[in-house]
Amino acid sequence: MVSKLIALEAYPHLKDLDFRILRGVELNMRHHRWVPLEDIARFARTDVETASHRLGKLDSWELVRRRSDIGYIGYQLTIHGYDVLAIRAFSRKGIIEAISTTQIGVGKEADVYAAVTPGGKRVAVKFNRIGRTSFTRIKLYRRDFMDKRHISWLYISRLVAQREYDALQLLSPVARVPRPIGWNRHAIVMEFINGVELADLREGELSREDAEGILDMVLDEYERIVEFGVVHSDMSEFNIVITEDHDILIIDWPQYLPTAYPESIEYLKRDITVLLNSFRRRWRVEKDFNEVWNRFYNAWTRSRGG
Ligand SMILES: Nc1ncnc2c1ncn2[C@@H]1O[C@H](COP(=O)(O)OP(=O)(O)O)[C@@H](O)[C@H]1O
Ligand SMILES: [Mg+2]
Repeated sequence: MVSKLIALEAYPHLKDLDFRILRGVELNMRHHRWVPLEDIARFARTDVETASHRLGKLDSWELVRRRSDIGYIGYQLTIHGYDVLAIRAFSRKGIIEAISTTQIGVGKEADVYAAVTPGGKRVAVKFNRIGRTSFTRIKLYRRDFMDKRHISWLYISRLVAQREYDALQLLSPVARVPRPIGWNRHAIVMEFINGVELADLREGELSREDAEGILDMVLDEYERIVEFGVVHSDMSEFNIVITEDHDILIIDWPQYLPTAYPESIEYLKRDITVLLNSFRRRWRVEKDFNEVWNRFYNAWTRSRGG
């Protein structure tokens, strides 16, 4: 399902006041499910009437949501409003100059769009659309989560983006992953990868021998990453990209776990199972699970200083 970047339709119409209003809604959502109109007006340094008028516009562009049956008039930021704030931040920091409304990547938990930097370089912007799997994984990684009463999607999707940015920073000097360029709120900007997702290759497009070669490259690469101390935990044919020059890249890292976490061994085992199964099912590449698993188990143990 390809979706348009709704944030971009409103963006050209927005004034400085609108951005202040959106910021006011965002910040106050830490304390309110529905942020009172008065608080927003105060934050935006304007009167209630003007704030209400602009919020009506922002509502019609789907950047905020309004509610009046709660004893007062309150507003919430929508995901599109959050997109607007992230795009504005990237633009002010000189990270991106323009972004395309057409989606390049449709994933499970994110929408990815092409953009260009002020220097004319093509980059990818990944906006998190928070889902269940990364949430479960993050709970494991960030136990302090469990104590929070009011866990908002704002907070979680921001944490998810930060984690992926951290993973890419950690790994890009040593492994074939996209180079990270910037991070803001629930979005990251990274090097644009020209290539095709392994999952998008049809049966006839890849011979069994070529598929076997690719699997070997992926296993070698992943073994080095595990030895370095990181488990992907969402490894699949959807997260492997084959570039024009027949190289492979492993993408989509927000749910990574350091091998220092004992639980990471279970995720590693699942990653290897998923990989071998999909190559067997689609290209009849047979690999002995135990043999491969031995390699990875050893790499995992070595990474923990064992
Ligand atoms: N750096 C990039 N350059 C080009 N396309 C990308 C890039 N990162 C992701 N994509 C595309 O977007 C899709 C979704 O991104 P991904 O990181 O896998 O997120 P999700 O969690 O939604 O699966 C990918 O499968 C890929 O097609
Ligand atoms: Mg993915």
